[in-house]
Amino acid sequence: MRKQIAAANWKMNLTLQQSTELTDALLNEDLKDYQLVIFGVPFPYLQTIKKKIAGKRNYFIAAQNCHFKKSGAYTGEVSAEILKSVQVDYVIIGHSERREYFNEDHQMLTEKVNICLQNNLKPIFCCGEPLSIREAQTQNEHVEKQLKESLFHLTTEQFKDFVIAYEPVWAIGTGKTATSQQAQEMHAYIRKVIVEKYGDDVAESISILYGGSVKATNAKEIFGEKDVDGGLVGGASLIADEFSTIIKGLK
Ligand code: PGA
Repeated sequence: MRKQIAAANWKMNLTLQQSTELTDALLNEDLKDYQLVIFGVPFPYLQTIKKKIAGKRNYFIAAQNCHFKKSGAYTGEVSAEILKSVQVDYVIIGHSERREYFNEDHQMLTEKVNICLQNNLKPIFCCGEPLSIREAQTQNEHVEKQLKESLFHLTTEQFKDFVIAYEPVWAIGTGKTATSQQAQEMHAYIRKVIVEKYGDDVAESISILYGGSVKATNAKEIFGEKDVDGGLVGGASLIADEFSTIIKGLK
């Protein structure tokens, strides 16, 4: 079974106290070996939440971003090396909000992926099309290009067990979820593109998460699709009961 993942993306929300309460409420989920919960938390909380999940083998933390340079005079930025030094497990790379508001292009994302891997951090690489592309029905080409430009230089070894999040931009924070069929179609397409480049074994090892208005009421159905290996969840990951139900919806 591929890893099935419920990843929370808290974005720029929650105080420290709220974040510890939320984590406490979610620490005792009954998880199978292949099911993971990842908390994508603001930088200042990484160490606190890491301590909270200590000894819980299916729980991990993620940073929501990192800089693409190794180190240096980049005031306010955080490097992969810094994240590694506080035992971060995963890093969300290429979220559409970062692509849009912080002008992150594919070259920068390629460098971010590389520097994460050099530091043994696991990228959660986000891709997904805006509404105009969906309306023009060219979403497959769009997502394929995003993957090829930022990931397909990786070796088979580097790409094995990789985590990709498909997040249609029109579904993020809008309450408009892709149907489970739309999610499955894209996830199957992504896996096909990976098969062509890296072969069946690698494609079968990769977890492809769906993101975009995942909630307690739709998670189980979406996650039930053959090529959907869990979700990257924003708004609904801020509410303990909601996220708990989402975790329980994992295959
Ligand atoms: P949402 O965000 O669940 O609030 O739509 C998902 C994401 O941006 O990762």
